[in-house]
Order: sequence, then structure tokens, then C-alpha cells
Amino acid sequence: MLAADQSKTFTLGNRTVNRSGYGAMQLAGPGVFGPPKDRDAALSVLQEAVASGVNHIDTSDFYGPHVTNRLIREALAPYPDDLVIVTKIGARRDNEGSWLPALSPEALTTAVHDNLRNLGLDVLEVVNLRIMLNPHGPAEGSIEAPLTVLAELQRRGLVRHIGLSNVTPAQVAEGRRICEIACVQNHYNLAHRTDDPLIDELARDGIAYVPFFPLGGFTPLQSSILSEVAARLNATPMQVALAWLFRRAPNILLIPGTSSIAHLRENLAAAELKLPPDAITALARIAVSSTR
Ligand SMILES: NC(=O)c1ccc[n+]([C@@H]2O[C@H](COP(=O)([O-])OP(=O)(O)OC[C@H]3O[C@@H](n4cnc5c(N)ncnc54)[C@H](OP(=O)(O)O)[C@@H]3O)[C@@H](O)[C@H]2O)c1
Repeated sequence: MLAADQSKTFTLGNRTVNRSGYGAMQLAGPGVFGPPKDRDAALSVLQEAVASGVNHIDTSDFYGPHVTNRLIREALAPYPDDLVIVTKIGARRDNEGSWLPALSPEALTTAVHDNLRNLGLDVLEVVNLRIMLNPHGPAEGSIEAPLTVLAELQRRGLVRHIGLSNVTPAQVAEGRRICEIACVQNHYNLAHRTDDPLIDELARDGIAYVPFFPLGGFTPLQSSILSEVAARLNATPMQVALAWLFRRAPNILLIPGTSSIAHLRENLAAAELKLPPDAITALARIAVSSTR
């Protein structure tokens, strides 16, 4: 189950990225809504991430909305040649910051253009179609209609590669029959392992799996086992959680989100942390069975 291959890079679309990336969602204001509390700090986090070797940044124009993409552009444009910015479409925010599905052809087309404009790009390297059929997580249902729209935007040259987010294995299979899928971005971490079989299947086919909430999300992971293992390894619990993901499969790309430079440094250092076999055995006990 745990891969021996600890390669530090992976091919996403047709670009090689470092498996230690960065998720930009935490840069917007509270609740991923409005401007950041500390704008200069947000710009510094992005600049330090790239200066430290991050060449894969995950974002969306519905973070803020528009705020996170504009910060990325301000902090990093003109972009380094090796930087891959991955965005997602399929949701929108209302005036109170609620997250609503936005999967109509018009909404998807507008979202691609919003991302292009706010990021200052002519083409988006990877766009994840974020499926929201149920507020509580992935739910079965055909994704053919919105994915066909995104594939058409790709054919028009606005999008280079397509990924899927918040999807079931059946939807991934359906998506792969419609167009080439470069990556899948779903909720997965040490304690939430519904996607174990899907990760292995995608690894066999060379498709990236990008866990969102790798640290547990809005409520970061807390576990006495995690704390004990971390203390033994002279690391932090979040570093152990990331090191475990890094080792879990070679196609896993890390996009931990943080608005803090100290946390960014800590998270990037996790790629160097080696987990001995007894730590891996202990950490396996954290997994809770969850059903879809
Ligand atoms: N496709 C989707 O539906 C979807 C959904 C959610 C997220 N995402 C993407 O996935 C990325 C990662 O998810 P996420 O940011 O929601 O959750 P996450 O990475 O699991 O956790 C982020 C939380 O952990 C804290 N944190 C980060 N590093 C830490 C450290 N070293 N020590 C202690 N606390 C730490 C952050 O606070 P600080 O800011 O204080 O560090 C924040 O509260 C996002 O940035 C976004 O790009 C995608």
C-alpha cells in the first residue's frame, strides 16, 4: 500500500512539478472570503514558496472571490517558466460567501475567462472541474455535460489540461471516457482515506492525485498517535501528516494551505522527513473508515 518510490517530482499534464506544492486558498480573508488580513504577508508567502522551489500552486477564482488569483499575479508575475498554476471552476460565491454550484455552460465559460484575466494568463495550464452535486462531498451523477463544456474550452486553446475535483471513482471513469484527465483533486488525508483504491488506480495510470485538506482543512488534524509519532521523530504533527502523504503513493502531489511563512517552511521541510516502519504502522491506526 505504501510506495517505496519517494521521487520528489511527478508529471502533471506534460509538466514536471515538485511534489511539494502550495495551496493558495488560505490567502483570502476569513472563510476564504474578501481580502487577506495581512496583504503583504500573503504576497510574501507566495514569493517565498516559489523561491523555495515550489512550482505547483493550486488556486481558484472563487477564493475571495478573485482575491487569491490577483494576489498570485501581483506576487509572482511575470511567472517563472517552470511554474504550474492549477485552478478550478464549477462553483461561485454569493454576497454572504456561501459556496454554490456553477456548472452551466455560461458559468464555466465565464469562470475560465475570469481565471485568465485575474491570473494574467493567455492559457490556463490545468483546470479542475469541481463537481458540487451535494454540499457534503462527492455524490454520484453524470458529469458529462459540464466536462464536455470544459473539453470544448480546451479545444479552443484556453485550457491545456483538465482535472476533476470532488468526484467519485465512477465519475473519474466517466470523465476519462470523455477526455484526458491529468489529475484528480479530492478530500484525502491520514484520517480520511475513502479514496485509497482510487489513488492506487490513478498511480498505475500515471495520473496525479492531489489531496485537498491534506492537513485536515479548516480544523487541522489532531490525534494523540500523530503527536506521539511527531515527538519521537523530532518533527511537528503537520510534518508527519505530510510526510505520510508523500510516501503514500508516487502520484500524490501536496498542496498544503497556509497564510504563514513559518508554516510554509515547516510544510516544505516535511518532504525530507523519513518515516520508519514502526511510525507507519502507528499512523495506520488513525484512519477512520468513511463511506460515500
Ligand atoms: N477542490 C476542492 O474542493 C478544494 C477544497 C479545499 C481546498 N482545496 C485546495 O487544497 C489546498 C489545501 O487545503 P486547505 O488549505 O483547505 O487545508 P489544509 O492544507 O489541510 O490545512 C490548512 C489549515 O492548516 C493550517 N496549517 C497549515 N500549515 C500548518 C502547520 N505547519 N502547522 C499548523 N497549522 C498549519 C492553516 O492555517 P495557517 O494559515 O495558520 O497556516 C489552515 O488552517 C487549498 O489551499 C486549496 O488550494 C481544494
